[in-house]
Amino acid sequence: MCGIVGYLGDGNTYEVLIKGLHRLEYRGYDSAGIALVDTKGKLHVYKSKGKVENLENMCSGKDLEATAGIAHTRWATHGEPSDNNAHPHYSEDGNLALVHNGTIENYKVLKDALVKHGCKFHSETDTEVLVQLIEYIRLGNNCSLVEAVQEALKQVEGAYAIAVLEKDKPDTIIAARKSSPLVIGIGENEMFLASDASPFVEYTSNAVYLKDGEIAILKKGEPLKIIDLDNNNSKVDVTKLKMSISELEKGGYPHFMLKEIFEQPNTLRESIRGRVVDGGKRIIINGVRDNKETFVNARRIVFVACGTSWHAAMVGKYLFQDICDIPVVVEYASEFRYSNPVLGPGDIVIALSQSGETADTLAAVKIAREKGAFVFGVCNAVGSSIPRETHSGAYIHVGPEIGVASTKAFTGQVMVLTLIALSVAHLKGTLPEEEIARIGKALLDIPEKVEKVLKLNDKIERLSAIYTYAHNFLYLGRGCNFPTALEGALKLKEISYIHAEGYPAAEMKHGPIALIDEEMPSVIIAPKDHLYDKIVSNVQQVKARGGSIVAIVTEGDTVIKNLANHVLEIPEVPECLSPIVASVPLQLLAYYIAINKGKDVDMPRNLAKSVTVE
Ligand code: M6R
Repeated sequence: MCGIVGYLGDGNTYEVLIKGLHRLEYRGYDSAGIALVDTKGKLHVYKSKGKVENLENMCSGKDLEATAGIAHTRWATHGEPSDNNAHPHYSEDGNLALVHNGTIENYKVLKDALVKHGCKFHSETDTEVLVQLIEYIRLGNNCSLVEAVQEALKQVEGAYAIAVLEKDKPDTIIAARKSSPLVIGIGENEMFLASDASPFVEYTSNAVYLKDGEIAILKKGEPLKIIDLDNNNSKVDVTKLKMSISELEKGGYPHFMLKEIFEQPNTLRESIRGRVVDGGKRIIINGVRDNKETFVNARRIVFVACGTSWHAAMVGKYLFQDICDIPVVVEYASEFRYSNPVLGPGDIVIALSQSGETADTLAAVKIAREKGAFVFGVCNAVGSSIPRETHSGAYIHVGPEIGVASTKAFTGQVMVLTLIALSVAHLKGTLPEEEIARIGKALLDIPEKVEKVLKLNDKIERLSAIYTYAHNFLYLGRGCNFPTALEGALKLKEISYIHAEGYPAAEMKHGPIALIDEEMPSVIIAPKDHLYDKIVSNVQQVKARGGSIVAIVTEGDTVIKNLANHVLEIPEVPECLSPIVASVPLQLLAYYIAINKGKDVDMPRNLAKSVTVE
């Protein structure tokens, strides 16, 4: 949540920062702001409630000359979205400006102490305390800005990625991180900083991912310097970025979400590239191969994740139990971290996260490590925090996901979990080789099957018109498609603001069936699998109560076709792969309903893509 960006160099500081803010807007869009310093020692701060375009309107005609600048797009935690609470915040004397992503947990104590010393605060944010504290220390100790930052951060509890600008130092930016992401870009005569590399990918491919407890000193004409809070030098580890700009643009689609839905055939190809060999007979996941004994002897798998990643983990539960004979539990990372989890050697904790930065999942990973479990990450964002904290892992390789509603990450996660489960099943001998080869071959065909599902686009768009004004939806599924139902309901909720509940289809009769009437549509995921006959009964139960039914069925199904009001046919695939093909029509249905309602699907209200606060 919240995106920060900074620039120091000979280019157009304002333009670089604004473009960077647009790229980071997926992290929050409650307000945006910018601070610029010029060689005359002037510090200009402009900020505005709402999206980055409001800030741009406000800046038009203003003095935007600058050699360095920092900027912020906010997802509000402390204090309502307003101009006043927007970042950058500045010290009372106007000497420093600061942007922050994270949460300062002890801000109240620090604020009270500063107020006693005469400091005046102008916002309701936790962030303002940081900038006031740094300046208070700098003035009181007559020290440099870096020393003041070091001292202030020693007093701070919580998570932060910060960047600080000093009025009289137009050639320097100080940045620091703890538990919130921060990456520095090193170009020719220019340096960048940002919450992820997207704001500077077109200027440089040299990136340095800051580690917890590190402070970066960006100074014009000098190499990047990294130190810790006690002034020890850290190594500057330069990584070559592989991201391309086209991945960060809409490519002709009206929304990132639609682009990402349609990218899925290709992203799924990327997820399996080099991992499914010999026509599907062999599955290679390096992280499993390198930790063979751990996987073969695992006594339990514990998944930790949030949101859509949690739904993918639920699919993983069915997979690992069915084909690897390993007991599995799936935990919400936010609950796991405060639940005294009983873990130890023999337990594998698999952390799923698209961003690799979700605060609760990251905390769960740290706890699992402390408790002696083997921790494996399944993430998308390369170089993000979770992959760096885990013992091993596998990337899903679906490219940057920008739409706040996760789509291609879900199918990529399910795909990679299937690959992991198959390679473990092979090592353990829990699935006959012919069966592994059958599923392996089907895996290679999945991108084409998803291409076929995407041909339903126009039909789903028409269908969406019928259901746009429903107030509630029920999504039902069984077995590994119960999580598909949860995911379909989440997609609808988060972008159309329609209440939707995902439920195991058979559990419905223990309560939610009371909700069913002609105004409450049910979306039922009912492919031909080993529970097909059971779900047909559930469809009948809904129909008997007058509920209208949209069913996702296997091509050629006639039984449910006669019961449901509308059917969307998906190609036949092995049961364990059905969540991948079945989730795509649900993504499209949610998308078109939200569009019909005039909602901003890429930036739904109150949400942010990367949840880096608790
Ligand atoms: O980056 P992560 O996968 O850890 O994110 C987890 C959730 O915040 C995320 O899936 C969220 O639920 C999405 N908005 C769902 O579309």
